[in-house]
Amino acid sequence: MHRTVVLAGASGFIGSYFKQRFLADGWQVRTVGRGASADAQWNDDGAITKVLDGAELLVNLAGRSVNCRYDDRHRREILDSRVLTTRTLGRAVAACSEPPMTWINSSTGTIYRHAEDRPQSEDSGDLGSGFSVDVARAWEEELAAADVPATRKVPLRIAIVLGPGGGVMGPFRNLARLGLGGHMGPGTQKFSWIHVEDLFRTVAFIHRHGELAGPVNAASPYPVDNRELMSLVRQSMGVPFGIPTPAWLLEAGAVLIRTQTELVLKSRWVEPRKLLDAGFVFDYPCLTGALNQIANPTRSLTKPPLHPNALSPKRPFTQTLSHLKGPSPKRSLT
Ligand SMILES: NC(=O)c1ccc[n+]([C@@H]2O[C@H](COP(=O)([O-])OP(=O)(O)OC[C@H]3O[C@@H](n4cnc5c(N)ncnc54)[C@H](OP(=O)(O)O)[C@@H]3O)[C@@H](O)[C@H]2O)c1
Repeated sequence: MHRTVVLAGASGFIGSYFKQRFLADGWQVRTVGRGASADAQWNDDGAITKVLDGAELLVNLAGRSVNCRYDDRHRREILDSRVLTTRTLGRAVAACSEPPMTWINSSTGTIYRHAEDRPQSEDSGDLGSGFSVDVARAWEEELAAADVPATRKVPLRIAIVLGPGGGVMGPFRNLARLGLGGHMGPGTQKFSWIHVEDLFRTVAFIHRHGELAGPVNAASPYPVDNRELMSLVRQSMGVPFGIPTPAWLLEAGAVLIRTQTELVLKSRWVEPRKLLDAGFVFDYPCLTGALNQIANPTRSLTKPPLHPNALSPKRPFTQTLSHLKGPSPKRSLT
């Protein structure tokens, strides 16, 4: 008998990856989304309930891309696509006779303040302010408001996700290719990230670990700063140097390419404290291994590098040795 996972927002970068990984692990995957190919569409509560009834796990990844200028229309779309989809799922789960055991709803590591002084864990981190933080708070509040007593709800505060064929590395690589791959703004801002395979494994881990409650940070334990990030990007591409980009130039460029500088200038320092304490072992703890895998996507995702990257001289916080051991065998969720 197949176990069923319901993915909302399954057509995107993370959702597509999750879909093929769940299928590879023998799960039945059902989808909720905007398109006709989804098993249930957002305007049909009854169909969503039908898809969810009897499923074991719900993962909501729906949300309009934040890679745009934050004008009024985009702000509304960014907020609504997260809050209203979460609300709809809450109604549908509440109507199930056999509701999912776990509901993991994406949230974002951007919920924490700009932090260059210390990492932000789930318990000791400070929430920030501004539009992106307001969206993240509203998103998590909507999840908290869902009245679904038989379902464990976990907001997943996701750092920047890296993976083959997606994520934010494209623009960074394009800049490096043009010789503009130096640090951006001050270069001291932290870049918290996670490999999409580890994000998938995080979701599976949370589902298995029923004791994990409240928000969970999904980020590699070794963030880098922007200076290191750009240096690693250049190295992975064999580009010997890169001209730094000052903040004012980024602001001007961002207007032209219609995006926000927050995406590169905000210091995101997300500590995966709950995952580490619960014994989660990252396949890609360090950025070099992740970037190598992304640069050589044909390499097996189940064979991470033997040793973590040691380019960063300053470890922001320690990870126990057990988290740094060699490759882990292919794991299945089943
Ligand atoms: N990628 C990251 O680095 C990152 C970091 C932190 C948090 N997150 C969050 O994780 C989730 C998935 O990220 P992703 O990178 O996979 O994003 P993505 O590639 O942009 O995909 C998001 C999916 O959401 C659905 N969607 C888009 N616009 C929508 C709208 N207006 N209303 C309802 N649904 C809409 C679409 O799925 P359908 O076509 O199937 O409807 C789309 O494929 C998002 O909520 C994102 O905010 C991502």
